[in-house]
Amino acid sequence: MISRIELTDFRNYSTAQLEFEAGPTLLVGSNGQGKTNLVEAINYLGTLGSHRASTVQALIRQGSDFSIIRAMLRVEDRTNLVEIQLNRSGPNKARVNGNEVRTRELPRYSSSIVFAPEDLSLIRGEPSSRRRFLDELLTLRNPRFSSVFADYDRVLRQRNSLLKSSRGRIPSGGESTLEIWDEKLISLGTEIILARIALIEQLQPEISAAYLAVAGSAHSVRLEPQLSLLADDPDGEATALPGFAVFSPAEVESRFAGRLAELRKSELERGVTLVGPHRDDLLIELNGMPARGYSSHGESWSLALSLRLSSARLLKTESRIGDPILILDDVFAELDERRRERLSESISDFEQILVTAAVARDVPKSLAARKISIEAGTILNPPATEAGD
Ligand SMILES: Nc1ncnc2c1ncn2[C@@H]1O[C@H](COP(=O)(O)OP(=O)(O)OP(=O)(O)O)[C@@H](O)[C@H]1O
Ligand SMILES: [Mg+2]
Repeated sequence: MISRIELTDFRNYSTAQLEFEAGPTLLVGSNGQGKTNLVEAINYLGTLGSHRASTVQALIRQGSDFSIIRAMLRVEDRTNLVEIQLNRSGPNKARVNGNEVRTRELPRYSSSIVFAPEDLSLIRGEPSSRRRFLDELLTLRNPRFSSVFADYDRVLRQRNSLLKSSRGRIPSGGESTLEIWDEKLISLGTEIILARIALIEQLQPEISAAYLAVAGSAHSVRLEPQLSLLADDPDGEATALPGFAVFSPAEVESRFAGRLAELRKSELERGVTLVGPHRDDLLIELNGMPARGYSSHGESWSLALSLRLSSARLLKTESRIGDPILILDDVFAELDERRRERLSESISDFEQILVTAAVARDVPKSLAARKISIEAGTILNPPATEAGD
């Protein structure tokens, strides 16, 4: 759990401090005051990303060159002081208990799951949002993955630029240059594919229970990996993996290699890599129909919440660094009374829950006992011991 945060020049905060306690905390304030910004800072420590911005530039306060997020993170009776400086130019800097560490070490100390209205894109959006969902969760479970994803992206970019520069022909340096990149693409790609498949398999038993908890009626929810390396048409949808988890690493690698060989000509013509985890998807079915394109708005919302809830359950069970901090950013305004109560009940066993809302009465009483007001980048009642009633 987080016990304290200090922000410097982060979003609309010039400086701010806040002490947290275990259990629920409600952050209230009108629109645009800084509620989401505050929880975004907390989530950044565990994910090194934002649920709404894709670059650090947006996180740094306008007119400043850098931001600092500093937090005390507690696991049982051990507390770590974790710090990151986000720089407008140049690499970010991280410290744990005063010692410099590599930025990508930070997720070892913090884990959080954000539920937000943007999550609707997990159901209705492009495959990239579902890939990101899976990859973020993999990284939360095993921070080592952040370098696997970074390496894969780098290899993919370099392979693509080699394909582009070839203008339809075997690149100078011959087939062998391409083969070096193929090998790296296949080995990193296979690791990602297999990790995603295993994760989806572990989410499956959680998700139906989560859907029931959120929506209040039993429906079948099915998750299935969709792999581009099984698709006939490289531009079509990735193909579902029947009876998934039957693949061994060697099988994935050989199919991957085989598919690359088949697509060599088109890849050279088009200058892009047509197969691999960067073109895969996660199929989500509700009552036997794909949620994307079939599910109602309310159903899609419940599914999105269920995905987050299942993720949180998975992290809680593994308890690598204690319960993940649950962050519910603006979700209650979107839910009817019954679903509000259901959601708050279904998360009541988590160690720490942070809720943001523009209107406090939208939030179930059980989550609203400790209230912090935020106004124009100022936290109005910071001392934890005096807040709440
Ligand atoms: N880099 C930045 N520098 C300065 N201000 C910023 C920066 N990024 C965002 N802001 C400001 O922060 C405010 C948004 O804060 P935030 O998203 O936390 O609002 P909120 O309290 O969650 O509101 P809502 O209830 O509408 O969700 C906006 O006024 C925005 O202009
Ligand atoms: Mg907000």
